[in-house]
Amino acid sequence: MNQMYSKQFGALFITVIVLAFRPGPTRANNVQADVQLIFNENSTKPIPASTEIVNIFQAAITNPNSGFNLTVDAASITVTSSPQTIPVIFLTNGTFSSALSNSSSDLFTNRSLMIKSGLVPFFVADFPYSFSTLTATNYSDGGLTVTGIASIWNYIDLSFGASATLPNSTQIGETIIRAARNNTLPFQIFTSKIIVNGTVISAGDVSSKINVFTASFLVAMSLLVTWSR
Ligand SMILES: *[C@@H]1O[C@H](CO)[C@@H](O)[C@H](O)[C@H]1NC(C)=O
Ligand SMILES: *[C@@H]1O[C@H](CO)[C@@H](O)[C@H](O)[C@H]1NC(C)=O
Ligand SMILES: *[C@@H]1O[C@H](CO)[C@@H](O)[C@H](O)[C@H]1NC(C)=O
Ligand SMILES: *[C@@H]1O[C@H](CO)[C@@H](O)[C@H](O)[C@H]1NC(C)=O
Ligand SMILES: *[C@@H]1O[C@H](CO)[C@@H](O)[C@H](O)[C@H]1NC(C)=O
Ligand SMILES: *[C@@H]1O[C@H](CO)[C@@H](O)[C@H](O)[C@H]1NC(C)=O
Ligand SMILES: *[C@@H]1O[C@H](CO)[C@@H](O)[C@H](O)[C@H]1NC(C)=O
Ligand SMILES: *[C@@H]1O[C@H](CO)[C@@H](O)[C@H](O)[C@H]1NC(C)=O
Ligand SMILES: *[C@@H]1O[C@H](CO)[C@@H](O)[C@H](O)[C@H]1NC(C)=O
Repeated sequence: MNQMYSKQFGALFITVIVLAFRPGPTRANNVQADVQLIFNENSTKPIPASTEIVNIFQAAITNPNSGFNLTVDAASITVTSSPQTIPVIFLTNGTFSSALSNSSSDLFTNRSLMIKSGLVPFFVADFPYSFSTLTATNYSDGGLTVTGIASIWNYIDLSFGASATLPNSTQIGETIIRAARNNTLPFQIFTSKIIVNGTVISAGDVSSKINVFTASFLVAMSLLVTWSR
């Protein structure tokens, strides 16, 4: 399995961990395996969709050259648990260029690394038991602000543990505003333009209190794939 997923995802994929083997649902199919796929938290690439993970596995078991020689019931392959994501859009300073709409460009990768490494420490600090990873998904032109500064809309996905209690939109906005006010970021966040899961968060609504989240436990990014043969 490592081979097939490494080939497909490159450095984004780290490894497969076998969690358990259990008797299959009938005598005819004898073993069910629970496995966990570990992805690289530092990658700027998004976590693959469950359907993609299943499709790659199904393609590998029917391909005699894939090197995977166990007999697996293709229909039984399912993702049982995957991270929960919340989309966030926010406005920063910066000059937009069309290469920023191309996720394969160096400009996209560089900016994504800057956004990710700038904001992740604040999410880790505020949601230590639930935050998993941050992925920049797109950028668009924000035009000139009223004060004449060139700006960029930044689209990100925040991922939280599969069984974690999610922070609400205000709490997420609060973390971004705290990051903006910390004055250590290599970009400027315009705090009146933060949209969390479709809701505009305004700095006025947000207290300066740091909200430490303690309600959950799953931190690891995990995807459970079970199969039987
Ligand atoms: C991600 O980067 C951090 C900081 O450099 C490092 O401690 C961590 O081990 C890295 N994680 C992976 C999976 O490479
Ligand atoms: C399946 O592949 C493994 C690793 O390549 C090999 O050790 C094993 O003998 C193979 N089993 C069968 C039944 O071909
Ligand atoms: C996106 O960027 C890659 C890498 O620079 C380039 O090969 C590709 O042609 C670009 N795609 C578009 C649609 O510009
Ligand atoms: C991206 O970052 C690398 C390493 O810092 C740098 O060499 C390269 O010029 C940058 N590319 C763009 C398009 O900004
Ligand atoms: C925010 O700023 C303070 C003081 O400048 C600094 O100690 C801290 O590490 C910064 N970052 C975070 C994530 O709070
Ligand atoms: C990314 O943003 C550009 C505008 O800059 C838009 O045209 C494009 O459809 C967006 N791409 C995705 C995948 O959302
Ligand atoms: C968000 O969560 C905080 C802390 O649990 C709570 O005080 C606040 O009322 C919630 N806000 C909304 C809009 O649900
Ligand atoms: C954006 O703001 C940051 C922090 O104030 C600054 O260091 C950076 O040079 C600005 N970038 C542009 C393109 O103006
Ligand atoms: C995000 O918004 C959608 C649609 O309004 C809603 O169904 C969903 O529960 C929201 N998610 C979170 C985590 O608030």
